[in-house]
Amino acid sequence: MQTIELPLPDDFHVHLRQGPALASYAKTVSKEFGRILVMPNTVPPIASAKAILDYRAEIKSAVPELETLMTFKLNSKYTAMDLEQMKLAGAVAGKYYPAGVTTNSEDGVSDFESVLPVISEMEKLGLVLCVHGEEPSAFCLDREKEFIKRVEFLSAKFPKLKIVFEHLSTAAAVEAVLRLPQNVVATLTVHHLLQTLDDVVGGSLSPHHFCKPLPKRPEDREALRQAAFSGNPKFFFGSDSAPHEKEKKEGPCGAAGVYSAPVAVPLLIEIFERAYKLNKLPDFIGGFGADFYGIPRHKEIRKYGKEDWIVPQIVNGAVPLFAGKTLHWHKI
Ligand code: NCD
Ligand code: ZN
Repeated sequence: MQTIELPLPDDFHVHLRQGPALASYAKTVSKEFGRILVMPNTVPPIASAKAILDYRAEIKSAVPELETLMTFKLNSKYTAMDLEQMKLAGAVAGKYYPAGVTTNSEDGVSDFESVLPVISEMEKLGLVLCVHGEEPSAFCLDREKEFIKRVEFLSAKFPKLKIVFEHLSTAAAVEAVLRLPQNVVATLTVHHLLQTLDDVVGGSLSPHHFCKPLPKRPEDREALRQAAFSGNPKFFFGSDSAPHEKEKKEGPCGAAGVYSAPVAVPLLIEIFERAYKLNKLPDFIGGFGADFYGIPRHKEIRKYGKEDWIVPQIVNGAVPLFAGKTLHWHKI
């Protein structure tokens, strides 16, 4: 059997949810990744030092070996003391959700100006700003492009602030991240490297491919792939694995989010292998993200073998990406 070795993968953008499902989602993620950045858009949101401590403890009790980097949901009400306490509680980043733009973001930012003082404090404290970069008022396919000006503004106004433009979906955003200073970086998901809008609505409607930001045109996907393969440390992996129960995706008001954790690493190996870029995968999945967040790279190595397997139709009550399809690589 053909095998390859990779550093134990990091995932710098994961949704674990809350309540009874949390433990099973966390267990699935921990089989694939050693270290994760946990998103705060739970119900209620992670928005205080206590919430961070409790959420981390809950994840730890489900999966003691999973290393978690915690985040809080940005709002305009935080004081400098709130931010300091959240940092002490283990937060490394705050997540900016424009109001209403994605799952559980109704309480997100509706007034850009109002969060600038909080972002200024985050800059002083060395807290990373992770942004869901979509402008809610724009036409759905233009939302990311329209948000670029805000990232440019933040980067110019807060030159020391570390900014992650999350889950890029357009060539325009890749170009912006390349153009902006070194402390503005981006995560890339596996589904945006694979899919275009055709995979959501081009044939029959595919609710399990529906996510925010929407995958876009083939040229956009190509730009994302080139960014991933470039070996530029500004681009690293964040799956945005976002499980929703099957019924919530298939109902009349389908939830946005792709459940990719169970298949993300095998798919990445396949994508990089097909492009003859396997040599770029270790940094993408186990290097550049850690460097950006200022944490040591994992020393542990993981081995993968090439042997067909079929992705289950359902994992933890949610339909995973590539459900029922054959993948070629798996962990050994
Ligand atoms: C995410 C979710 O379900 O929490 N959904 C998504 O479509 N990506 C939220 C997010 O990251 O936008
Ligand atoms: Zn997300």
